[in-house]
Amino acid sequence: MELLLGQVLQFNNTPFEGRPEDAALHIRRGAVAIKDGTILDVGEADTLRAAHPDAPVTDMGDALLSPGFVDTHVHYPQTAIIASWGKRLIDWLNSYTFPEEGRFGDAGHATEVAETYFDLVTASGTTTTVSYCTIHPESVDAYFGAAQKRGLRVLGGKTCMDRNAPDNLRDTAKSAYDDSKALLERWHGQDRLSYVITPRFAPTSTPEQLEALGALWAEHPELLMQTHISEQHEEIAWVADLFPEAEDYLDVYEKFGLVKPGALLGHAIHLTERERDRIREVDASLIHCPTSNMFIGSGLFDMNGLMTQGHRIGLATDTGGGSSFSMLRTMAAAYEVGQLSGFAIHPAQLWWLATAGSANAIHLGDKIGRLAPGYEADIIAIDLDSTPAIAQRAARAEDIWQAVFPTIMMGDDRAISAVWANGRKLR
Ligand code: GUN
Ligand code: ZN
Repeated sequence: MELLLGQVLQFNNTPFEGRPEDAALHIRRGAVAIKDGTILDVGEADTLRAAHPDAPVTDMGDALLSPGFVDTHVHYPQTAIIASWGKRLIDWLNSYTFPEEGRFGDAGHATEVAETYFDLVTASGTTTTVSYCTIHPESVDAYFGAAQKRGLRVLGGKTCMDRNAPDNLRDTAKSAYDDSKALLERWHGQDRLSYVITPRFAPTSTPEQLEALGALWAEHPELLMQTHISEQHEEIAWVADLFPEAEDYLDVYEKFGLVKPGALLGHAIHLTERERDRIREVDASLIHCPTSNMFIGSGLFDMNGLMTQGHRIGLATDTGGGSSFSMLRTMAAAYEVGQLSGFAIHPAQLWWLATAGSANAIHLGDKIGRLAPGYEADIIAIDLDSTPAIAQRAARAEDIWQAVFPTIMMGDDRAISAVWANGRKLR
């Protein structure tokens, strides 16, 4: 048993229903009691100290204790090509992404990048990632191996592509099925690791491959499935060309059994009314990648409309189409995209999206993303005065949300003072 002291923000409701600020309880001098990787109790520091007088105490002072951030869509193999200039989606994939992803059949390279990736994201306060790997099983082993070493709860899978990609980056319908199955048998459920079935997107899979992966998902309904949808207009037109019999982009996936609860649909910017309604009806998840959508020039995700409709929505960096490893920067971008769409997303809503909301979107809302008894102890301490610019603004704050918002808008890895994964201090 150990006590962590600091300010505590505890979400007990979704801030997209009712007044956002009423969704969370703020404890000015709070404590989180952890034992064997689990949160035992959350409350006033004085009360918990009196209840557990012998427990060792780590006092983070004024820092804000929060669940670790949950990043629901990343491509860890794109770590080294983040911030590559001047292309839109299809050209960006061909110019920058595919040449780099081609190197991940080399286990040494894959391990080196996976280690760098987890060093960067944990420094940014992220304790759960959902990653596309490359077509190579070695890239999946490197990803899960690096996460396991750090005690992280992460999810990911082998990216499947059997057309419209370079020779060295194509599998087949059969090898995609066989390799994915072998990898999920190797990794799924080991420690806190989960396998995700991962067809990259409709343009890079033949109907045969989508069918094989739909069959694999039907055999393993306990898994999540991730893919991309409706990110750019050129991509949507290409999908219509490749799958003329499909009613729309979503219908391509649905025909192959890939639209169910547990489907994580990345980007989802230019959806039709039918697609929005159908995704809602099925309760599949939408993943908002705001820095990426601006960086690659994709468009504005309709957070307000989709939330009002009741969609299950996660937030994500989409590294390296996204331009940051930080969920703070990603919250800021989500705010900016909201403003451009006429909706000011409240800081409580942004924080929830990066923690409990994202956990719900990946169906782990009962395990991570909240500071509450029984939850896994993935916890970060945030310095709300991490730079002079932030500190001078936060000094004027009249409530906790005004104190947090400057860190959301201007914060980076300097704001992350400490990180615990599964109750163990990582940094
Ligand atoms: N669509 C298919 N692959 C990708 C990718 O790697 N990044 C982004 N942003 N979109 C994609
Ligand atoms: Zn992506």
